[in-house]
Amino acid sequence: MKIAIGADHGGFELKNKLVQFLGSLGHEVSDFGTDSKEPCDYPLIGYEVAKRVASGECDRGILICKTSIGMTMVANKLSGVRAASCRSTEEARSSREHNDSNILSLGSRFVDEKAAEEILKVWLVTEHAGGRHKRRVDQISDIEKNVRGR
Ligand code: RB5
Repeated sequence: MKIAIGADHGGFELKNKLVQFLGSLGHEVSDFGTDSKEPCDYPLIGYEVAKRVASGECDRGILICKTSIGMTMVANKLSGVRAASCRSTEEARSSREHNDSNILSLGSRFVDEKAAEEILKVWLVTEHAGGRHKRRVDQISDIEKNVRGR
């Protein structure tokens, strides 16, 4: 899978570990920074990752900040992005089965390396369940396209 990854200073260390982990699983990873613990602005990094997923250049994205909240907010501004903040494997599974999430957001304050790896493994292999869940995801797309009016 082609995966875009990015983090601010709060997620920098966890990101580097996950880049290695994803590589060991055989994924093609594009790293959009940040490259140090120097404070930086999460919206700019989140946007770089989200636009790669929105455009189809990458299959999935992973974003890490301290809480996962800011990154999730940014990513979900882009049409076609369904970013999910997950702190457990169960949330990760649900976000794929029900919501067809294409970006996983992690908060380094709440998820350590081991937990992040477990969450990631589940998130990467779980398929969208389709059926009534597809209908609902399609409704999200309709809202993005404004076909329902305001
Ligand atoms: C940075 O201090 C922090 O605000 C950021 O990592 C993130 O948690 C934002 O939602």
